[in-house]
Amino acid sequence: MTATPVRLKYEVKDLALAPMGKQRIEWAGREMPVLAQIRDRFAKEQPFAGIKISACCHVTTETAHLAIALKAGGADAILIASNPLSTQDDVAASLVADYGIPVYAVKGEDNDTYHRHVQIALDHRPNIIIDDGCDVVATLVQQRKHQLPDLIGTTEETTTGIVRLRAMLRDGALTFPAINVNDAETKHFFDNRYGTGQSTLDGIIRATNILLAGKTIVVAGYGWCGKGTSMRARGMGANVIVTEINPVAAIEAVMDGFQVMPMDEAAKRGDIFVTVTGNKGVIRGEHFDSMKDGAIVCNSGHFDIEIDLEALKGRASEVKTVRTFTEEYKLKSGKSVIVLGEGRLVNLAAAEGHPSAVMDMSFANQAMGAEYLVKNKGKLEPGVYSIPVEADQEIARLKLQAMGFTIDALNADQIQYVNSWTSGT
Ligand code: ADE
Repeated sequence: MTATPVRLKYEVKDLALAPMGKQRIEWAGREMPVLAQIRDRFAKEQPFAGIKISACCHVTTETAHLAIALKAGGADAILIASNPLSTQDDVAASLVADYGIPVYAVKGEDNDTYHRHVQIALDHRPNIIIDDGCDVVATLVQQRKHQLPDLIGTTEETTTGIVRLRAMLRDGALTFPAINVNDAETKHFFDNRYGTGQSTLDGIIRATNILLAGKTIVVAGYGWCGKGTSMRARGMGANVIVTEINPVAAIEAVMDGFQVMPMDEAAKRGDIFVTVTGNKGVIRGEHFDSMKDGAIVCNSGHFDIEIDLEALKGRASEVKTVRTFTEEYKLKSGKSVIVLGEGRLVNLAAAEGHPSAVMDMSFANQAMGAEYLVKNKGKLEPGVYSIPVEADQEIARLKLQAMGFTIDALNADQIQYVNSWTSGT
């Protein structure tokens, strides 16, 4: 007889870490006033009563506040990690021990464990999936079609996940509504730009403790994340080179004052390389061959596909951990290449991800997106939906208010003017 496996109620590194996690969650809360207001409203209105939510996010102090808000709103919510290296183990412990939220996430979990946790998220039979990278949704569609009737819809956090959802829509595989959180202005203008910008440099600095001033930093990709990374690297005194495949983004980079060139050329010049393209094989074997001795490479895009580590391994005679999250590949050619965070998101692997103040708005969008799906259950056609403009604007208003800024309002004359076309020169 085979025994039925017992499903654990949670899977975290060590519940004894909970007190530290609670303290850090509370600290992050000081910078998350918008989500706190939504949480308090959810507590009164109970929009998620009877709703099962599976959230697949980076398990951080900020995500803790999202999970707490969902639970306050009546949700039966569970949380898994959206990346094997991004979990903050103390936060995972505190969510279980102090907030009663089942979490399945351990920093450094292997790929099999990661995928087992995705299955656990689906075993929960979610009505709403909050995804960061689309792994839970893609697994549901590929492996558990029979559960699709349970699903009201999904909200997606990141550019990579949106690209996958759009591909599913094109293939006729998206049979439910998906809310595109990433495209909300209060998300990508701040999270992708200032969040990735600051936290990527934070990850590089924590991993290496090197001086950025005077270094040449190559940023691959000039989307919002690349813009933020380039801007902040320049602010630290680095010379920034941008590589791009999109001519418009490349002109933007040029006019923002950066050097633009192909990776073949940039590879020879860079001291530090950061990939933020969302595509695979951005730094490849031929690039490693022409890099300077001691060049540092890292990635801040969602998946660990941007740097071809297999090609690097093939050229290496030895791989040595030289600091936490810092590995030196000694190449047969005699040179070394340094890889940070195993080519996974360096800002979450070696640092703590985006600061709370920007995640406040990102997760306000997630919370309101999930609420919108529940309120409109059965009314939305399959497709990828933007966050309603009113919700985006409301989040901006609340954030501005919490930051202590006030702005002007149009007077009646101005409203009439901007809504008319008859008066010109
Ligand atoms: N993605 C990037 N930074 C994050 C953070 N601090 N929490 C959750 N998801 C993130």
